[in-house]
Amino acid sequence: MKVDDAPHNLEAYDTFYRTFQWKSAQKELDWFDGKLNAAYNAVDRHAHTWRKNKIALYWEDETGNEKKYTFEELSFASNKIGNILKDFGVARGDRVFLFLPRIPELFFSFLGILKIGAIAGTLFSAFQEQALLDRLGNSEAAVVMTTKELKPRIDKIRKKLPALKHIIVVDAESFITSFAHAPEELHISHMDPDDYAFMLYTSGTTGKPKGVVHSHRAILQQHMTARWVLDLKDDDTYWCTADPGWVTGIAYEILGNWSLGITSLVYAGRFDPAKWYELLAKYRVTVWYTAPTAIRMLMAADTELVKKYDLSALRHMCSVGEPLNPEAIRWAIKTFDKPFHDTWWQTETGAICIANYPSMNIKIGSMGKPIPGVTAAIVDDSGTELGPNQEGNIALSPGWPSMMHTIWKRPHKYKSYFTRHWYISGDRGMQDKDGYFWFIGRADDVIKTSGERVGPFEVESALVSHPWVIEAGVIGKPDPMRGEIIKAFVVLKNEQRKSITDKKSEEALKDELSLYVKKHLAGHAYPREVEFIDKLPKTRSGKIMRRILKAKEMGLPVGDTSTLEEY
Ligand code: WTA
Repeated sequence: MKVDDAPHNLEAYDTFYRTFQWKSAQKELDWFDGKLNAAYNAVDRHAHTWRKNKIALYWEDETGNEKKYTFEELSFASNKIGNILKDFGVARGDRVFLFLPRIPELFFSFLGILKIGAIAGTLFSAFQEQALLDRLGNSEAAVVMTTKELKPRIDKIRKKLPALKHIIVVDAESFITSFAHAPEELHISHMDPDDYAFMLYTSGTTGKPKGVVHSHRAILQQHMTARWVLDLKDDDTYWCTADPGWVTGIAYEILGNWSLGITSLVYAGRFDPAKWYELLAKYRVTVWYTAPTAIRMLMAADTELVKKYDLSALRHMCSVGEPLNPEAIRWAIKTFDKPFHDTWWQTETGAICIANYPSMNIKIGSMGKPIPGVTAAIVDDSGTELGPNQEGNIALSPGWPSMMHTIWKRPHKYKSYFTRHWYISGDRGMQDKDGYFWFIGRADDVIKTSGERVGPFEVESALVSHPWVIEAGVIGKPDPMRGEIIKAFVVLKNEQRKSITDKKSEEALKDELSLYVKKHLAGHAYPREVEFIDKLPKTRSGKIMRRILKAKEMGLPVGDTSTLEEY
């Protein structure tokens, strides 16, 4: 039984799981004498084979613009960016951040940065000044690449970013000219597998977002899981609907998929059921990787709609980012004649760690089993393994290739992820007697809204910076469509409180606060619900008890309040 056959044969896969060693997979990549470069492995090595003229990227935007690039063209375009950055003085280890919509330049640039040994960071295009300042400030980025439309947001904070040397505007005349003239040849940096390749800011319960740093080695696991779990093969056309502002868009829209030489579709538009079905049909997408909120929105759309499209090419579908509800899988079986395969991982894990691989009998509602080379368990808070069907922390045994390397400039934060010999994910779950993992919820207050990870502290800070607000507590409120929505409990200053005379004046205040967060923090991180409250529940040491806000919101018992300040 060959490795490639294993995903389709459960018995073979289980045997394979037990015997697999990452060392044996290293030959799947191209090395330079013990060194490697993730971007070279994603693109350039294909430009030297029969895949040279194979389409790597089909790109389309909302207004119907279409482009396509072969592996050779992608290799040249990213080489050009590497050369341009070198001319700007970018050196190994420098941080270059991409504040770009999902345009082809985003993909060229990400690869170009890695090729010269610099560290790429991505910024979701919905970010506003506060979110940008936190990330660019902490990373001390030397360069930001952006567009004319997004640049004003960087200009606003530029004075507060002393390390920022250049803002490169990719749709400016000057850049277009230098791109046209830049050499297509580039010396690709030979990196130590542990050298940093990219970083992504992600949210925890407390404090500012933290910079999760990944190394070039991560591509090994992204490559193997793109094959084992996404089941990508040379004749596939693959569509990952994520944005490279988040980890899925990096690991499976750039690195894992292209390292297998797979033709990939990128759609640079917003979610729209008819458009999505149209794209699946038009490109004859065979493998589709998406997220539960999008699936639920498709379910909610007109059931006749899907019948208008020929989706017969689709052969494999996967989901990530939030709990995949059983109804969504049942709907998929009815609609597409195949289920979505759930996959579990995190920004910090760098690649899929637990999944329903193709051969598995899916237990509807379960996230599946660990992939070969990953040991997962349910452990208690002291790091002791628990038996089947017991709720605890979802934990991984450190050492998988795509494990984060550090939290940028916060080594203590990095250490805090580990208890005894386990990496503690922050998710609660259980494992059944057959080894399947089941997701229960977050152990902390991190919010997942439409699959995007939002830290309550960031939203609270944004609200408190509004002149009307004394303090704010933010929770994720369960929502049938978006998984969770952001709800803010706000204590207003006296004057504003008094200005509320009727429903209308109250609504106007709420709208103002939501809009304020949207404009200053991020377009996706604003509270869809605001409630005014006289006082927030706090511990005696002054920490906001979001758990109590959440319990009250959901009409549940508030639990242990012994550490609570009088409320
Ligand atoms: C959640 C996304 C339930 C989980 C790749 C995790 C999931 C967080 C699943 C990481 C799943 C991810 N079922 N929950 N299959 N996959 N999550 O860093 O809470 O944006 O800790 O990475 O998403 O989100 P992140």
